[in-house]
Amino acid sequence: MSDQNSRTRTRADVYRLMYRSRDLVPPEHRADELGDLFATSRSDNKKRDITGALLVSGGAFVQVLEGDEATVRSLFATIAEDPRHDEVEVLAEGHVGRRTFEHWSMGEVTPAASALPLIARVSEIRGGRPVNAAEQDRLLAVMREALDEAGRDDGP
Ligand SMILES: Cc1cc2nc3c(=O)[nH]c(=O)nc-3n(C[C@H](O)[C@H](O)[C@H](O)COP(=O)(O)O)c2cc1C
Repeated sequence: MSDQNSRTRTRADVYRLMYRSRDLVPPEHRADELGDLFATSRSDNKKRDITGALLVSGGAFVQVLEGDEATVRSLFATIAEDPRHDEVEVLAEGHVGRRTFEHWSMGEVTPAASALPLIARVSEIRGGRPVNAAEQDRLLAVMREALDEAGRDDGP
């Protein structure tokens, strides 16, 4: 009984939201714009105890945000209004047992070539179809593996 209660409490501690969007950053400003985006987001996320990762690939963004539920939701509401992307669609959200990106405030994911078909499929999702549990697990694993190779960004 107490086991069950403590497990329930722990599970409620981390909220994870994953979305995809269409990248609208113009080619001529990409390096500066994305550099600024990662720098300011890492510093802001650290202050809010948010961890996660942003994948930039093939004209799409896929981002994972992890932290306190209200903080994640309010940050996502801000991000969704950002003119640097559109067609923002939530792929999955909910409470999870633990963070996947505990060492990254906003890990910059450069996926392995073998992961590109999965990412292409996820990036093309339209009309609110959520990724299924298997796709979600696979995507998280691919993003985490890419970051393990690249190194930590010294998250909170
Ligand atoms: C794809 C994408 C991902 C973003 N991720 C974050 C993030 O993780 N944390 C963050 O603070 N801002 C992020 N931003 C920037 C926010 O949209 C916003 O510009 C920033 O929070 C500053 O908001 P403010 O002007 O209301 O303070 C992201 C923007 C884009 C386009």
